[in-house]
Amino acid sequence: MKKKIVLLPGDGIGAEVIESAKEVLEAIADEFNHSFTFSTHDIGGISIDKHGTPLPDETVKACKEADAVLLGAVGGPKWDNNPSHLRPERGLLGIRKELDLFANLRPVKGFKKLLHASPLKESVVAGSDLLIVRELTGGLYFGTPSERSEDGQSVVDTLAYTKAEIERIVDNAFQCAQRRRKHLTSVDKANVLESSKLWREVVEEKKAQYPDVTVEHTLVDATAMKLITAPTEFDVIVTENMFGDILSDEASVLTGSLGMLPSASLRDDSFGLYEPVHGSAPDIAGQGIANPLAMILSTALMLKHSFHLDKEANLIEEAVEAVLNDGYHTADLKLQGEGHKVDTNTMTKLIVEFIKSESATISILGCYS
Ligand code: IPM
Ligand code: MN
Repeated sequence: MKKKIVLLPGDGIGAEVIESAKEVLEAIADEFNHSFTFSTHDIGGISIDKHGTPLPDETVKACKEADAVLLGAVGGPKWDNNPSHLRPERGLLGIRKELDLFANLRPVKGFKKLLHASPLKESVVAGSDLLIVRELTGGLYFGTPSERSEDGQSVVDTLAYTKAEIERIVDNAFQCAQRRRKHLTSVDKANVLESSKLWREVVEEKKAQYPDVTVEHTLVDATAMKLITAPTEFDVIVTENMFGDILSDEASVLTGSLGMLPSASLRDDSFGLYEPVHGSAPDIAGQGIANPLAMILSTALMLKHSFHLDKEANLIEEAVEAVLNDGYHTADLKLQGEGHKVDTNTMTKLIVEFIKSESATISILGCYS
């Protein structure tokens, strides 16, 4: 299979973890006879410094011509005081909108070796396996007006959704639920917000089309609570942009490290942008110690969703599990028992080695366990 992949390293540890993703994909290409070609483009703070904009036209064009995009991270203290149109985050929001990536999938699944590092009791968190489907191109993030009055004494942001925007994300979430444990939790604030009332109506209308999926409506505040008291009760959660942003950060700590969570931003065809949920971690950037596993797991999501290469994707996921089970970890992860702390490069090499020895997968897994 021949595929064109755009790499957007962005800021902070972005460049380091993107390099890991590329090495892993090169190993997959070698092993399974695929041809992946890569081109690297600027986004975020680094792009502001080089081109005076967080999202150059050239980057958008390259992404539109590619089969999939991998993004590292954007942002950093250097640009924190910039005016809003010159903030690195604008690059990320801009590329999501330009590419119409309305469906953001954030799976949260614990690795056994890391469960003890969860802030929750192991008995509460063990067995959690949920997927947050976040609407990504509407709501408060993009509604207009969004501005401050001339005298600076008042502000407005706008939470706007069309029915069609809600329908397409709800369809996507129902379909995700059909491929999983067939339970959908729709999260809203229908006791207060007009947008949430329409959201609820759409979910109710749509459920007839997915009779195999059970549906539940919950309010966002109650959901925030239930995520930490009974996380195993969730399968697929679908919600609007801002609620999804907040709940996905909350859910991410269940598993013991933000450094392990991948995400996919998709539209209706197979094209997608894949990025780790963690940010640019400017405090450790450039030291070669970043955890590349969330980025590597994002490449597995890309292989699955954009290229339908399930075997290859599963191998990457197995590699991550096996390397952790063997006690290897980066500085951010606290493994139970004795471990071997390794840097970004070594972690990547371990994953690549596992992929290369794919034929011996079964026996290696055997001795790891
Ligand atoms: C995320 C991030 C972004 C968001 C920021 C960086 C704009 O927090 O991907 O969750 O809020 O969507
Ligand atoms: Mn966020």
